[in-house]
Amino acid sequence: MNEESLAKLRQRNLDSAGEWKRYAEHRRHCTRLILDAAPVKPTRLCLLGAGNCNDVELTALAKKFAEIHLVDFDKEAVTKGLKRQFSGLQGKIMIHAPVDLDAEDAISQLSAIGKFDVVASLCVLSQIIDAIPEQQKNKEEGLPLIHQIRTRHFDLLTSLAGPQGSVVIANEAVSSDTEPSVATCEAPMLGPTLVQLALEQKLFMGLNPAVIAGELQALAPGHTLKTTPPWKWDFGARTYAVCGHSLNRQA
Ligand SMILES: C[S@@+](CC[C@H](N)C(=O)[O-])C[C@H]1O[C@@H](n2cnc3c(N)ncnc32)[C@H](O)[C@@H]1O
Repeated sequence: MNEESLAKLRQRNLDSAGEWKRYAEHRRHCTRLILDAAPVKPTRLCLLGAGNCNDVELTALAKKFAEIHLVDFDKEAVTKGLKRQFSGLQGKIMIHAPVDLDAEDAISQLSAIGKFDVVASLCVLSQIIDAIPEQQKNKEEGLPLIHQIRTRHFDLLTSLAGPQGSVVIANEAVSSDTEPSVATCEAPMLGPTLVQLALEQKLFMGLNPAVIAGELQALAPGHTLKTTPPWKWDFGARTYAVCGHSLNRQA
């Protein structure tokens, strides 16, 4: 990761560190997505892009999982996020940082932490895609690059999940910056709005939920893939429409 992307990532985490209250609804969806993906007797959870940990209820997750591993590039954000939210069960939680999740060798860097019952990637793919240099974001060059990034990210998820672990991913599909109705529409209208925006090619590049769902399903044909209806993530300056997917790979 270059210095500019690193500075941007740290600043974003600093800017959103105090957003625990605002993220309540988003956190409820993300936490539910993970809990619903857990097998009957789960032991190990891995959270990629844990950052400030404002999007997960760690206490609820710690009741279900014996171990929670938090991975991010920004060690300070994760350390402070964990401290803000959590007390008493620190022995259950392990931080792995700094790790560049988009590095070519991310799988081997993380191989020592083992395999997980659930591996979750929460709104991190968007930041990895955003780190593509501006001049490479045009459609001819950008699309293959984004496809490569997504494939690398899914490979990392499935590698950490081993042959049987579940994979959970949530991503922002569009924001109210470009589509103001994302903030104002009634919740049931968010799905049809995204379908229309997808047809008009107005979703974030590389983050069309239908494309992500298709690629995830291809990783484990015959296994159950669930895609949630979109929900709103109130980010303050803007509202994102977020979709979650979970791939159950148990035999
Ligand atoms: C939008 S935040 C996710 C929300 C965060 N879990 C929270 O509750 O605030 C994305 C996270 O991904 C991390 N991230 C972005 N690109 C990364 C990369 N290439 N490697 C590792 N972490 C990355 C950022 O540091 C940030 O913490």
